[in-house]
Amino acid sequence: MPPKTYKYKLVSGEDFGKAALETLQEAFDKARTYPLVVLPTGNTPKPLYAAWRQTRAIPYDFRYVNLDQYRGIKFSDPRSYPLEIKREVLDPLNQRLDEELIFDGNSDPKNQADKVETALKIEQGIDICILGIGQNGHIGFNEPYSEFNSRTRSVQLTHNTIEANKRHCEAHGGVPKDALTLGLGTIMEAKKIILLSNKPEITVKALHGRIMSKIPASILQRHPDVTVVGTPMVSAQLRLAR
Ligand code: F6R
Repeated sequence: MPPKTYKYKLVSGEDFGKAALETLQEAFDKARTYPLVVLPTGNTPKPLYAAWRQTRAIPYDFRYVNLDQYRGIKFSDPRSYPLEIKREVLDPLNQRLDEELIFDGNSDPKNQADKVETALKIEQGIDICILGIGQNGHIGFNEPYSEFNSRTRSVQLTHNTIEANKRHCEAHGGVPKDALTLGLGTIMEAKKIILLSNKPEITVKALHGRIMSKIPASILQRHPDVTVVGTPMVSAQLRLAR
């Protein structure tokens, strides 16, 4: 018998940030106290973070889990992902960083990956995992052909991702070629996943196409509790595909 797949819940709204914030608020309301929350960087979550800072609609404390980080750079590097989250979310919301849950891109990658996996086990797993999706279907930095049961590890970025991320890195020494990322298996163990998307084509492929490692996000079809927050264009395309 093939493994079970689940239908995701779709949330949309003219105001993407507000729709995402309401979805996150609902997830916080259902989660345990002081939940472990994965936060992505990039363009897609910016409206969510802006709405969160502005309204402070989620009054709870949480523990931030780093989704991915470039290798060979310091925490304080302008390209650093956890630094971006600290600036955009943690500082404005008075949340602190936990060293055990973030990657040091400048230390031994295997030790860093093991450190975060161990901390996740000790803390009893990720409660809420917020994700964006890359043009090539990556989630975190799990690039096409990543193993579905992969754990947190060092990866090489594809040409496609390096090109896509130039806009953030060009002024600061370019896009590093390697990164640390939570694995697909690690992400799939999260109790709740919220996928934020502004990319209609790849999102429809991932959620309605064949589940295959060429499109890493397609594994989300096998997670029992996924909510997709789409921009109006993404939501329209997903409704057509349902
Ligand atoms: C970022 C991350 C990536 C991005 C994806 C989409 O921490 O893990 O998977 O979510 O590349 O990036 P944007 O939102 O910039 O289009």
